Amino acid sequence: MKKIMLVFGTRPEAIKMAPLVKEFKKNSSDFETIVCVTAQHREMLDQVLNLFEITPDYDLNIMKQGQDLYDITSRVLLGMRDLLSEVKPDVVLVHGDTTTSTAAALAAFYQQIPVGHIEAGLRTHNLSSPWPEELNRQITGRIATYHFAPTPLSKDNLLLENIDESNITVTGNTVIDALYLVVDKLKTNPILSTDLKSILYSSGYDIDRLSNGKKLVLITGHRRENFGDGFIGMCSAIKTLTERYPDVDFVYPMHLNPNVRKPIHEVFGEDLNTLNNMFFIEPLEYLSFVYLMEKSTIVLTDSGGIQEEAPGLGKPVLVMRDTTERPEALSAGTVKLVGTDYDKIVNEVSQLLDNNEYYNSMSKALNPYGDGLACDRIVQQFRN
Ligand code: UD1
Ligand code: UDP
Repeated sequence: MKKIMLVFGTRPEAIKMAPLVKEFKKNSSDFETIVCVTAQHREMLDQVLNLFEITPDYDLNIMKQGQDLYDITSRVLLGMRDLLSEVKPDVVLVHGDTTTSTAAALAAFYQQIPVGHIEAGLRTHNLSSPWPEELNRQITGRIATYHFAPTPLSKDNLLLENIDESNITVTGNTVIDALYLVVDKLKTNPILSTDLKSILYSSGYDIDRLSNGKKLVLITGHRRENFGDGFIGMCSAIKTLTERYPDVDFVYPMHLNPNVRKPIHEVFGEDLNTLNNMFFIEPLEYLSFVYLMEKSTIVLTDSGGIQEEAPGLGKPVLVMRDTTERPEALSAGTVKLVGTDYDKIVNEVSQLLDNNEYYNSMSKALNPYGDGLACDRIVQQFRN
């Protein structure tokens, strides 16, 4: 029986690894599944673990308030050293481009344990953007033996780096597996939407405000390369938009990183609840977030995962970044890069709110990132 260890630590990794954990566990006669969380994120990780009912076998519990990249790298590396010696997995699976995934891959490499990289081959080829993620995924790509590329384009990126084609499998992105699980829950359980309404209400947003056709702009942001001026540009643009469109609601579930919250306060003031149509709320657990995304008109974000999910729900996405490693939806016209420039954000959001034809051209539902069967394809690869 193969011993498979899955390692993850942040919210997006957990969302994207949760369906894979479930898939390996379904095949318990073939695999021993070991879940190790680094807890690079503590609260935001736990929200996902609770939702998907995953109890980690090991928890390195590394998060510190205001941690830097040295803290994360060294704490993951040292934590994994002892754990890998004890557990001796046959394969370590890591996800994407966080510092957890790269440090865990390096730890496995130091003990000559093969690494499988989930969501392999995404590239901007610009080491400054996203930072430090572009280097993280390139390093993990060098270390990994097995590469699970979400799309044919990500496979091509790996081939250009001379990765052996026989070690690459195009699987689709596991985020679509997670999204379908959640959308299915929402569809098949009508009582759930009543629960989610009350969760949102207690988080500070009354979804019934949308019942008269009111529009909703959903906002998230957290990228390190946007800290400072980038966030000030984003927040100033959002403030102008709330004033220009008093009949539109703007909802911003704020990331817990203090570097994200500081510029929000600088632009909106100490008390964030003074505007009638701007709602700053705490991070939502995944189910409530997807529910809110389904109800939204436009998504304004710098997130990676949301760029993959929102097109599936037919929502236009304006990405507050200069580059993206996910160009598939960009070519399809449902995602647009707006950077962090004040004028560009104000103009693009205004155009989508004012011009129906333009809005419709961007709101096609399409899913270049997967079909919900990525986890099954990954598990199949380990049967041989
Ligand atoms: C990390 C990843 C980034 C990923 C993002 C997803 C790295 C270098 N960055 O960035 O690739 O896109 O997660 O959200 O791997 N905090 C809490 N509780 C939480 C989570 C965060 O309090 O549950 C606060 C802590 O003060 C922590 C800080 O946020 O020190 C920053 O967390 P960190 O993981 O270092 O950076 P992120 O910006 O979240
Ligand atoms: N998300 C969530 N609650 C929120 C905001 C986002 O569950 O309040 C989900 C979102 O649907 C996506 C993931 O978190 O699956 C994206 O996380 P984030 O933007 O932090 O990281 P990135 O994808 O940019 O690495």
